[in-house]
Amino acid sequence: MIASPPPLSLYVHVPWCVRKCPYCDFNSHQAKGEPPFADYVDALLRDLDQDLPMVWGRPVQSVFFGGGTPSLMPPEQIDRFLQGASARLQLVPGCEITLETNPGTAEHGRFEGYLAAGVNRLSFGIQSFDDGCLRRLGRIHDSREAEAAVKLATDAGFDNFNLDLMYALPGQDLDMAVHDLERAFALGPSHVSHYQLTLEPNTLFAARPPACLPDDDLAWDMQEHCQALLAERGFEQYEVSAYARAGRQCRHNLNYWAYGDYLGIGAGAHGKVTFGHDGSILRRWKQRHPARYLASAGTPANIGGDDRVAPAQRAFEFMLNALRLVEGFGLDTFELRTGLPRTTIQPRLEAASARGWLEIAGDRVRPTPLGRRFTNDVVSLFLAPPA
Ligand SMILES: C[S@@+](CC[C@H](N)C(=O)[O-])C[C@H]1O[C@@H](n2cnc3c(N)ncnc32)[C@H](O)[C@@H]1O
Ligand code: SF4
Repeated sequence: MIASPPPLSLYVHVPWCVRKCPYCDFNSHQAKGEPPFADYVDALLRDLDQDLPMVWGRPVQSVFFGGGTPSLMPPEQIDRFLQGASARLQLVPGCEITLETNPGTAEHGRFEGYLAAGVNRLSFGIQSFDDGCLRRLGRIHDSREAEAAVKLATDAGFDNFNLDLMYALPGQDLDMAVHDLERAFALGPSHVSHYQLTLEPNTLFAARPPACLPDDDLAWDMQEHCQALLAERGFEQYEVSAYARAGRQCRHNLNYWAYGDYLGIGAGAHGKVTFGHDGSILRRWKQRHPARYLASAGTPANIGGDDRVAPAQRAFEFMLNALRLVEGFGLDTFELRTGLPRTTIQPRLEAASARGWLEIAGDRVRPTPLGRRFTNDVVSLFLAPPA
């Protein structure tokens, strides 16, 4: 039984981009002309209204505009949405409000507008500072534009921002990967997300892999060198791909990884809500296609699916998230979030510990460096329901 529901976040999906990148499998669609943002904000608020009864009275600790390219949205529309959200939900004081930004969409005045609307954190999709790599990734910006966009944001007053970088890029060598990080540090981020490029099914890159992809050994070398460099420069790794300065971890993503709750609104958005009265956990997702979403938001037709998470699935779901964290998790949090007693996972924790994948100290369970390398194997131990 779950005594009280976990912290609650709000995810808002913006499904349009200037151009679809060939490696991207997110629900993002190339915009034909200016997307109907005013109508979209109306739809988002109808969508939120429909989800509200599931979370009455619960404070919201973070908001995240993800995409797609949320920075295509004019500040006035972000402002209108946040005003509507604040009228419907209690956003905690100091609520973290992040907006994903493609540097190719930066314009004078935009960042001042976002700040005035209440956005207090930005996440820039930089990917690389090498113009050849950026071209091969099909990005709409070059390195100079990326630097200029970050400068515009800091001049406007943003001091809490993440830079997304990818490594193991086509044509990239170790020096280039390290150089990308050096250019990132020079911009003064509080957070760096460092992702290995993966060839996702149903993308152009999966259908026609680019030439000169680094092999696994080189990718591993890049990761090790970059991890060490990030640590040396004061960015502590707290998750598989996330590094932050002290106190600047992304609260929104931490809530996902700690198996917290979130409402997901917008085209194709996913949410997870725990109900205090019966301890059930609901996963809900919305219509994926922007046109269908716009037409159906706020009506039952907009619900892509509602799925109750059975108790037998919860240990696996919890581990899938919590074992991404360098600090792992507390067994009390496991019990609070899943409603299962710790005894249901004890034998499997011990099996993982015997293989050198987990370190168990009192109440704390941490993945070892070996466990972090084989996360999929560790997590799959928790797939089967307890014997
Ligand atoms: C949802 S995307 C949004 C960022 C924004 N739309 C942009 O691209 O500028 C978040 C991040 O995921 C990472 N990403 C996307 N596809 C990836 C892939 N196939 N492999 C590794 N990282 C990927 C990129 O670093 C990207 O910035
Ligand atoms: S800009 Fe970001 S979300 Fe859009 S297609 Fe490229 S990687 Fe995907």
